[in-house]
Amino acid sequence: MGLVFLLLLVVFSAVSADEDAFVGVNIGTELSDMPNPTQVVALLKAQQLHHVRLFDADEAMLVALANTKISVIISVPNDQLLGVGQSNETAANWVKRNVLAHVPATNITAIAVGSEVLTTLPNAAPVLISAMNFIHSALVAAKLDSQIKVSSPHSSSLILDSFPPSQAFFNRTWNPVMVPLLKFLQSTNSYLMLNVYPYYDYVQSNGAIPLDYALFRPLPANKEAVDSNTLLHYTNVFDAVVDAAYFAMADINFTNVPIVVTESGWPSKGDSSEQDANLDNANTYNSNLIRHVYNNTGTPKHPGIAVSTYIYELYNEDQRPGRISEKNWGLFDANGIPVYTLHLTGSGTVLSNDTTNQTYCVAKEGADKKMLQAALDWACGPGKVDCSPLMQGQPCYDPDTVVAHASYAFDAYYRRMGMADGTCNFNGVATISTSDPTHGSCIFPGSHGRNGTLFNGTSSLAPSTNSTVSSSHPRYYYHGDPLFCVTLVLSLVLWMATFF
Ligand SMILES: *[C@@H]1O[C@H](CO)[C@@H](O)[C@H](O)[C@H]1NC(C)=O
Ligand SMILES: *[C@@H]1O[C@H](CO)[C@@H](O)[C@H](O)[C@H]1NC(C)=O
Ligand SMILES: *[C@@H]1O[C@H](CO)[C@@H](O)[C@H](O)[C@H]1NC(C)=O
Ligand SMILES: *[C@@H]1O[C@H](CO)[C@@H](O)[C@H](O)[C@H]1NC(C)=O
Ligand SMILES: *[C@@H]1O[C@H](CO)[C@@H](O)[C@H](O)[C@H]1NC(C)=O
Ligand SMILES: *[C@@H]1O[C@H](CO)[C@@H](O)[C@H](O)[C@H]1NC(C)=O
Ligand SMILES: *[C@@H]1O[C@H](CO)[C@@H](O)[C@H](O)[C@H]1NC(C)=O
Ligand SMILES: *[C@@H]1O[C@H](CO)[C@@H](O)[C@H](O)[C@H]1NC(C)=O
Ligand SMILES: *[C@@H]1O[C@H](CO)[C@@H](O)[C@H](O)[C@H]1NC(C)=O
Ligand SMILES: *[C@@H]1O[C@H](CO)[C@@H](O)[C@H](O)[C@H]1NC(C)=O
Repeated sequence: MGLVFLLLLVVFSAVSADEDAFVGVNIGTELSDMPNPTQVVALLKAQQLHHVRLFDADEAMLVALANTKISVIISVPNDQLLGVGQSNETAANWVKRNVLAHVPATNITAIAVGSEVLTTLPNAAPVLISAMNFIHSALVAAKLDSQIKVSSPHSSSLILDSFPPSQAFFNRTWNPVMVPLLKFLQSTNSYLMLNVYPYYDYVQSNGAIPLDYALFRPLPANKEAVDSNTLLHYTNVFDAVVDAAYFAMADINFTNVPIVVTESGWPSKGDSSEQDANLDNANTYNSNLIRHVYNNTGTPKHPGIAVSTYIYELYNEDQRPGRISEKNWGLFDANGIPVYTLHLTGSGTVLSNDTTNQTYCVAKEGADKKMLQAALDWACGPGKVDCSPLMQGQPCYDPDTVVAHASYAFDAYYRRMGMADGTCNFNGVATISTSDPTHGSCIFPGSHGRNGTLFNGTSSLAPSTNSTVSSSHPRYYYHGDPLFCVTLVLSLVLWMATFF
């Protein structure tokens, strides 16, 4: 018995504990003003996010992620699953196009084959295993199988009777798929990808699950859930669901497949029937989740075994169909501005730019006016900052000085670039400040004083993905001076010459 236990530990640690648990993010792209891949990567870097999952294998995104060390899970979308699962040649081509073309520059570490296939696309279930096998064979042929894992994310709703966790089992209808799937994961040293949404468990429980239990808030000892079979104490829904998955695997005799949570999060906004989708709860859930993961506590069943987790999701996706909550799972808006300020003291550097003092990029005191003007023109032109708030009659027109206008434009640019290193320079005339330059009705991007109404609709700072130098954004005409056009072109040329 002792030996078996020891062996299990060894197997587990071989796959998961060689690396501490980490927090990553999912990057959905259904935004009306999706930042371009360079901006997405700038945000990831500024927020120290080193692990991402894409819902596809977008070429531009994979190129932007090259040489960043960021580890990337790419996905075979459900609509490509049939093709890949029916032909090893299609699968090999998929790997060639989406993997071989990008490694090693882009650090692809896993391929998620389909998404919640058994619960959302059961008709494709018969090809899921062959799709995974074909993709894996193509990786073997390219000698990439040890560094790139193949798996498939599952909904936790596949697990039935999940409390107490020790009685959980996978919906037996799917045993003919789950058994070979777990065999595959086991023999390829891969892991189970699991989507864990305490928000839905809570909402669907009709009050049976206390909100505090879903949000990782401390519970009085007498309210902690105890699994009467194992006497393990559960202080939160997340751990209970992950343990239910371990028990469900054990139920069909798999005891050494680690789990990575590919999605978890909480919406920050909902309609009137979704009262618990709000800023406070989203902040509490995600802050506690991040601290929980980094604490390396594991779960009651497997203490100390890493359960790395990808937060759903990086951006609010305003184009997603469905209820209001569906569009509000993001940590950031399209401008890279945090939707709320996470409470992460003591949990490392990931996302910690949310919790440290806000920084602003402003014009340097005493900077040369001509250089400021040139930099301002650049920011409002090729830099693609929307400078319309600086126009006469708009909130940031006053004071009508090049210093004040440049500060606004610099800060907007800096924020759009995810506050990345080197994006607050402007040929040396810009500097980082911790005091909020917001004045009167002119609210600076990222200001805590912003009222959620700052960039109303049309004046988004994020450029469209379709970004060439001839921006479709309104040009900034300083004073309408006829000479300005000439000055603009000249200063542009100068600026480009000095910077590139
Ligand atoms: C790729 O990501 C993995 C997991 O984070 C990391 O261990 C590895 O060092 C990265 N590789 C490169 C080349 O950056
Ligand atoms: C596909 O499978 C067939 C039969 O097993 C094999 O001969 C062929 O080499 C495979 N093709 C690829 C691209 O792996
Ligand atoms: C199990 O899965 C089958 C097939 O999708 C489904 O019809 C059934 O409702 C599921 N059982 C439960 C209890 O959810
Ligand atoms: C698991 O193992 C037990 C005992 O060996 C066996 O009775 C059972 O059929 C196995 N279950 C599956 C799904 O293979
Ligand atoms: C972190 O881990 C320690 C020891 O494992 C535990 O006592 C503590 O409650 C954990 N903190 C959090 C926030 O999970
Ligand atoms: C934030 O800025 C204020 C004033 O500059 C400073 O006193 C405080 O220590 C800073 N806080 C952090 C967390 O850096
Ligand atoms: C926050 O982002 C800035 C700009 O990229 C970076 O210099 C700084 O190190 C980051 N702070 C933390 C705590 O990660
Ligand atoms: C937000 O806007 C309302 C109404 O315009 C105003 O009363 C309130 O003071 C503003 N709050 C902040 C923090 O600016
Ligand atoms: C923002 O847009 C909405 C709807 O178009 C409008 O009702 C609201 O007054 C606008 N807010 C500001 C500050 O312009
Ligand atoms: C850029 O956007 C415009 C308007 O949305 C569109 O007509 C044009 O085809 C796009 N160009 C590219 C290269 O995507």
